[in-house]
Amino acid sequence: MKFQGIISINDLSKKEILYILDVAKKIETGKTKPDLSGKVLSTLFFEPSTRTRFSFESAMNRLGGRVISMAEPKASSLAKGESLHDTVKVIERYADIIVIRHPQEGSARWAADSTKKPVINAGDGANQHPTQTLLDLYTIKKAQGKLNNLKVAMIGDLKYGRTVHSLTSALSLFNCQLFFVSPESLKMPEHILEDLKKKKIKYSEHEDPSKIINKLDILYATRIQKERFPDEAEYEKVKHAYVIDVSLLKNVKKNFRIMHPLPRVSEISTNVDGTPYAFYFEQAGFGIPVRQALLSLLLGKVK
Ligand code: CP
Repeated sequence: MKFQGIISINDLSKKEILYILDVAKKIETGKTKPDLSGKVLSTLFFEPSTRTRFSFESAMNRLGGRVISMAEPKASSLAKGESLHDTVKVIERYADIIVIRHPQEGSARWAADSTKKPVINAGDGANQHPTQTLLDLYTIKKAQGKLNNLKVAMIGDLKYGRTVHSLTSALSLFNCQLFFVSPESLKMPEHILEDLKKKKIKYSEHEDPSKIINKLDILYATRIQKERFPDEAEYEKVKHAYVIDVSLLKNVKKNFRIMHPLPRVSEISTNVDGTPYAFYFEQAGFGIPVRQALLSLLLGKVK
């Protein structure tokens, strides 16, 4: 299977997604050991990141490759007014593969259009975060042993949270029942709900998680995305909309797991961390095999 880049989860078929997850598992278990020595990854981050940037860099290092990194745009010629197009045209001469995070929706697609080197979208504004989705699917499969026919709720900022937008698209391929829990002002965008209707995916919208929590296999929590609110007063109204606490988890299913792309602010109480339901730190760890798989596949190093 050949991949040109990873820009949107919607560009991948179910078969391709399952293949990527399978390669990730083979790398994690040592059955496949791709060698990326001699290859260079460039990480271009125009927004803050801990997990995505470090896990890509760690993945590349563990596969024997090298990394050149721009984590602070102010220290590059972008600060002198250089365009994203020109930056990518130059970086393609220094690196074999480019990972980009940028606040503008569509930026990863523009970057990919500027180069023949593979580009991976590490988050473009409120739009998409496809590699997070792939590691989310990997995590769900680890937790539940399957991806099909699960009951999955997403809670928090469903309007601006790019991870839940990508994850909704991906789960629609696996006939999951979806529950969207948010304040009225942060509901899942209409175009995503329309898409679910067209695909005949069962979903419902809620404000109170306690009404549905006992039915769920997965609760996917998200941070309220302060940086994307045009009006800070609107953020202040919803910033503590949900705090998942042990008291909410009294009658959950045995296999129930809580995920979160992280970073968390206050949406999951730390008293949940020690329960068998907390799975968010494991989830962050699965970023390594999944991103190792993506780098290896895009560089043509998987046999
Ligand atoms: N999950 C995620 O994208 O985390 P970072 O913002 O730390 O990369």
